[in-house]
Amino acid sequence: MHIALLRQKFLEFFAASNYKVLPAASLLPQNDPSVLFTTAGMQQFKPFYAEPSSAPSPQVATVQPVIRTSDIAEVGDDTHLTSFEMLGNFRFGQKSSLTMKREAIAEAWRFMTEILQIEEDRMYVTVFGGDKTTPADTESEGVWRSLGVSDIRQEGRADNFWGPTGDEGPCGPNTEIYVDGVEVWNLVFNQYFRDRDGNFTPLENAGLDTGSGLERLAATLAGKNSVWEIEPFAGWVSHTDPSKVRESRIIIDHLRAIIFLIASGVLPGNKGREYILRRLIRKAVFLASQLNRGFDWDIAVFHIHAFYSPVYELTNKDDILEVILAEKQQFDRNLNRARLYLEKWLKNHSDVDEKAITELAFYMYESFGFPKELVIEYLAGLGWKINNDHFNELFTKHQAVSRSGLERQFKGGLADHEPQTIRHHTAHHLLLAALQEVLGKDVVQKGSNVTSERLRIDFNFDRKLTEHELEKIETIVNQKIAEDLPVLGEEMGRDEALKSGAQAEFGAKYGSKVTVYTIGDFSKELCGGPHVQRTGELGKFKILKEEASSQGVRRIKARLN
Ligand code: SER
Repeated sequence: MHIALLRQKFLEFFAASNYKVLPAASLLPQNDPSVLFTTAGMQQFKPFYAEPSSAPSPQVATVQPVIRTSDIAEVGDDTHLTSFEMLGNFRFGQKSSLTMKREAIAEAWRFMTEILQIEEDRMYVTVFGGDKTTPADTESEGVWRSLGVSDIRQEGRADNFWGPTGDEGPCGPNTEIYVDGVEVWNLVFNQYFRDRDGNFTPLENAGLDTGSGLERLAATLAGKNSVWEIEPFAGWVSHTDPSKVRESRIIIDHLRAIIFLIASGVLPGNKGREYILRRLIRKAVFLASQLNRGFDWDIAVFHIHAFYSPVYELTNKDDILEVILAEKQQFDRNLNRARLYLEKWLKNHSDVDEKAITELAFYMYESFGFPKELVIEYLAGLGWKINNDHFNELFTKHQAVSRSGLERQFKGGLADHEPQTIRHHTAHHLLLAALQEVLGKDVVQKGSNVTSERLRIDFNFDRKLTEHELEKIETIVNQKIAEDLPVLGEEMGRDEALKSGAQAEFGAKYGSKVTVYTIGDFSKELCGGPHVQRTGELGKFKILKEEASSQGVRRIKARLN
């Protein structure tokens, strides 16, 4: 059955069973700051379980695209996807949990056996077996028996107790239908409310939250046990690279999630959902670079976009492609830098043990924006393994340093320790030295702020800079980048540092011990770091804006591309 027909049959069946069909919600939840994405059909209805009177109807049905990064490690196997569509039917404010279970289970069973005509001997069901916190769901078990189902398996909390999404919310025991050993239908009976502290309180009225993964169900109906054999995935692996099945699957899986996210208004960035989008794009780009055949992003985006745009309002395909390609370009540059770095590193290290490899991996992660699992895969491709514990140790240390960096955030400083922020930080030093070269040695820094998006410097100067001066400054910085100068940090006493002519921010307080960063013999500043190791890692420097900041103080905003 074609996926579009399956959507339609589902909605028709539940509309005929007294459910109001509602549109899908945004992938970015509007009512729940504790989750980044809509991970389930019930997400948009969360408040209605506790307050049924506010629901648009006591029974609703939807087809909801969702994003689940929790399953991302499994993507590439036969049944897991980062984003998929959920068929769902929901009930709020049910007076009797037993009546609700009788009706809901019978509806699900009728849809499976009569509408989809799945043979009963291909199926078994699971129910919650109970634990210390919550009793077994004997009601559901009884209902299944009354329908003549005998293969009923009792499972624990991990499999048969669902929710809540985010920190708190409705949750409860669930019962699942398996076809040919694959879970395709999940009925959650929201009978409890779990609060942030983990306490379960019974809800006054029970509710129903059913979910069925559209792609899995479609594959099952086609007699396949892999979602990769149905549209829009069928034929993809052989088209992309039959010798790299897992990679090809992950690329298209991620691409679909990427398209849905961009269409929902997310752009790649360094925090929250933006960072997730960035990682998805980078991973797809990286895997595409590993394929034995070239990879055409235009065709790939067109393929997915054309399949979904009749159902969902997806942003124009070309706009989506542009976002992906811009991020790809930035990441490609990082990848190249990382490769060059690796080659150099190899020349200097004849003895490579696990510790050295782990430190190398961490450096690549920290300096080139290589997501952790990509570094690991990349090094594994060269036959090397890292030590996970050691990597995590370095990561924890790095986070602690980042945090103390944040705490040090007097008058600006670094917003975070993302690789691009660190690059901007080094460029900031180059910019100050270039300002002094062009405008005179009296120029001192009056304030600064550095993020992954841009760098900002405030400095004393009493007029607007000319176009010519700005161009000159830009050229000098780019020249110093091209010279690939080493960036070195050295600890010394504050007075010694100031005497040596190192620049200090005007009015800033420093301890008696300071670090002085030099860039070749071009720049020398008191600074807590961190910085890149060589200016060659920076990319192209561009001034975005020059303006007045206050009386006698100018402000320049710039970025690296
Ligand atoms: N919320 C449950 C799930 O996602 C049922 O819809 O599996």
